[in-house]
Amino acid sequence: MSENINGHTNIYGVLGYPARHSFSPMIHNFLFKKYSINSVYLAFEIRPENFKNCISCFKMLQFKGFNVTMPFKEEIIHYLDDISKEAKIIGSVNTVIKKGKTYRGFNTDIIGFMKSLEEKNFDFKNNCALVLGAGGAARSTVLGLINKNINKLYIFNRTRSKAIELVKLFKTYSDKEIIIFDSLDALSDKKLKNIGLIVNCTSVGMSGLDNPKDMLVPEKWDLKDKFIFEMIYNPIETKLILKAKSDKALIINGIDMLINQALSSFEIWNGFYPDKKELVKYFKNSIK
Ligand code: ATR
Repeated sequence: MSENINGHTNIYGVLGYPARHSFSPMIHNFLFKKYSINSVYLAFEIRPENFKNCISCFKMLQFKGFNVTMPFKEEIIHYLDDISKEAKIIGSVNTVIKKGKTYRGFNTDIIGFMKSLEEKNFDFKNNCALVLGAGGAARSTVLGLINKNINKLYIFNRTRSKAIELVKLFKTYSDKEIIIFDSLDALSDKKLKNIGLIVNCTSVGMSGLDNPKDMLVPEKWDLKDKFIFEMIYNPIETKLILKAKSDKALIINGIDMLINQALSSFEIWNGFYPDKKELVKYFKNSIK
């Protein structure tokens, strides 16, 4: 948040239902203050039936930009003038910018995901990846992995028909084969050995949910030296992260991804990529 709010302060925000739990206001207001940008970022918890009116209000109030989160990442597309190529492929937008009189949508989940792996020097070309889930987060992940030319791509989802839909979607975009696993328990040791990255894109393990299982990865799997990417950030240590730690896996948690996608949204709005180190320090202290 700008130190001196005045008549010229620009408004940004995140629109979701729920939205109050979001860490985005903390991140963006820290960055606005750090770079002396006269802007403020707020959370707007809007019931789905009021979404359309809310977007009209944002436009009327000349918001410079905003994020959208669950459950609006698909619906927002109807109200935008243009969306990025990546957002079009996966049909999901999380970042909007006002450009003159028009509104443009991006998906920084894809950028944040790839950046989190690049920062850990993950070798895309020589690794096989297993994606758990087939929803919006899985679509961003698969697109990121295909764009980085991952060696081999496997997917598992509770509802097989949704995994098939995802595979169909990407057939029109890339000739990279995506292989569907029907069961994780039945996976051979040989296949498991070849998997260098496992990404949890499901809500299994998220706090507040009554999941029958709180980890999809079978307990018997040895995760040593594999990259384990957990999209969930609440709790910070899911059951999957705890297992990954005890197996001595290489871990990327939901906070890494959250921060990287926020930094990319900031870059879209402000034209430069902010310094990450200080933000991470501030963020970790704030959520202790
Ligand atoms: P997001 O946009 O965050 O990806 P989503 O589109 O609702 O959210 O996707 C949620 C994912 O979590 C789906 O892959 C869902 O599996 P189904 O397609 O079978 O619904 C998965 N998921 C949620 N709860 C689950 C559970 N208890 N066991 C296994 N998978 C689960």
